[in-house]
Amino acid sequence: PETGCLSIAVLGASGDLAKKKTFPALFNLYRQGFLNPDEVHIFGYARTKLSDEELRDRIRGYLVDQKNVEQAEALSKFLHLIKYVSGPYDSEEGFQRLDRAISEHEISKNSSEGSSRRLFYLALPPSVYPSVCKMIKTCCMNKSDLGGWTRIVVEKPFGKDLESAEQLSSQIGELFDESQIYRIDHYLGKELVQNMLVLRFANRFFLPLWNRDNIENVQIVFREDFGTEGRGGYFDEYGIIRDIIQNHLLQVLCLVAMEKPISLKPEHIRDEKVKVLQSVVPITDEEVVLGQYEGYRDDPTVPDNSNTPTFATTILRIHNERWEGVPFILKAGKALNSRKAEIRIQFKDVPGDIFRCQKQGRNEFVIRLQPSEAMYMKLTVKQPGLEMQTVQSELDLSYGQRYQGVSIPEAYERLILDTIKGDQQHFVRRDELKVAWEIFTPLLHRIDKGEVKSIPYKPGSRGPKEADQLLEKAGYLQTHGYIWIPPTL
Ligand code: BG6
Repeated sequence: PETGCLSIAVLGASGDLAKKKTFPALFNLYRQGFLNPDEVHIFGYARTKLSDEELRDRIRGYLVDQKNVEQAEALSKFLHLIKYVSGPYDSEEGFQRLDRAISEHEISKNSSEGSSRRLFYLALPPSVYPSVCKMIKTCCMNKSDLGGWTRIVVEKPFGKDLESAEQLSSQIGELFDESQIYRIDHYLGKELVQNMLVLRFANRFFLPLWNRDNIENVQIVFREDFGTEGRGGYFDEYGIIRDIIQNHLLQVLCLVAMEKPISLKPEHIRDEKVKVLQSVVPITDEEVVLGQYEGYRDDPTVPDNSNTPTFATTILRIHNERWEGVPFILKAGKALNSRKAEIRIQFKDVPGDIFRCQKQGRNEFVIRLQPSEAMYMKLTVKQPGLEMQTVQSELDLSYGQRYQGVSIPEAYERLILDTIKGDQQHFVRRDELKVAWEIFTPLLHRIDKGEVKSIPYKPGSRGPKEADQLLEKAGYLQTHGYIWIPPTL
């Protein structure tokens, strides 16, 4: 592995994302020995004037369970690695100060040898990405003759539609090489999302089944049981399709639907993802149901006439040899009756089925991304006993049970570690982002113009009933009288 000084600058250090995700992920990496205290230094940068100590106080509470005495020592050591620099996002003077702080640290750590690795994490709204990138490029690049690198990490939303996203991409692209840009989609850091490639391509079980001959439909579902509390202003500009479907669920779709990559090289994998996205045909209005939960507009930052969807079901169709005719149903909603994310592959009926009159449901293979990570296969077995009755059951690989005592890392931890290692596999490439926007932009524009309306639904419900009707029309057959219950330990 590379050695030498590693400087991690978190821009937007006092914001929500930094406090809730970036710093906790850095702390966890530190605690587990992935950030070598002899090499690493962390810088917070934001506009607010704060002392080092004040920044540390602001983030401390997010890093550990305060009662956890075991972590207390690590926490105080970690916090001491953090320095704060304040300044605006568009002035060289502030970034020169940041550069000086980084350089001082590099000189003190690199007294003899070593390279300079500089990671800039933009925990900021995209409106300031171009100016921040420009400042980094002008003032803060790695200057060591001994090697190293400068990388930037950005978070969605990458634009609002194809045009704005392309504009943002070219502004950043003029300053940095694609190999220096890490576009985070944190769903790609989730354990069971990362497992998809292994599951699909390392198991003979799945190879012959994973196609239109056997699969009736695929659902990729994200549900949250809370609304947009506190984020109404941001959310209303974006809506659920831009917030969840165009990125998180579409990335998952790629991994479910793509062909086998030539190798595990990040570029080979990303090439296959792009191909799948390019095969998606335009979405038709008949295959979209939008919803907005009642009470959403009560938020003072949300306009009274907002048509922004907080729920959407859209059907994507992939025009290729493997998937022609198989609906990929992407569904996401806020303020629903449960919180979970899963991939549900429903298989076709058994031809010439001799158990037809007893059968309660189709085979399904479900990958539960969260909570209670699991994979289970719903199948029909003989009901144990003297009678020849059938019953729905499952082959269940529940992680909590199978991997007891193994802690599953947070998505951000792995992804940040990847940025340090220089592995771009789990990051969105520029061409991938472009096609993702191409798929949804026409629909988004129709929604923005009010041509596709959001149907009201009750908070705490399943969403609009029209969405269930669409599912049925697409060929999804709900199993009645069966429910998978995650095993309790
Ligand atoms: C974010 C969205 O990207 O993902 C949020 O902006 C959403 O609206 C969140 O709540 C969900 O992430 P997770 O990891 O909790 O499923």
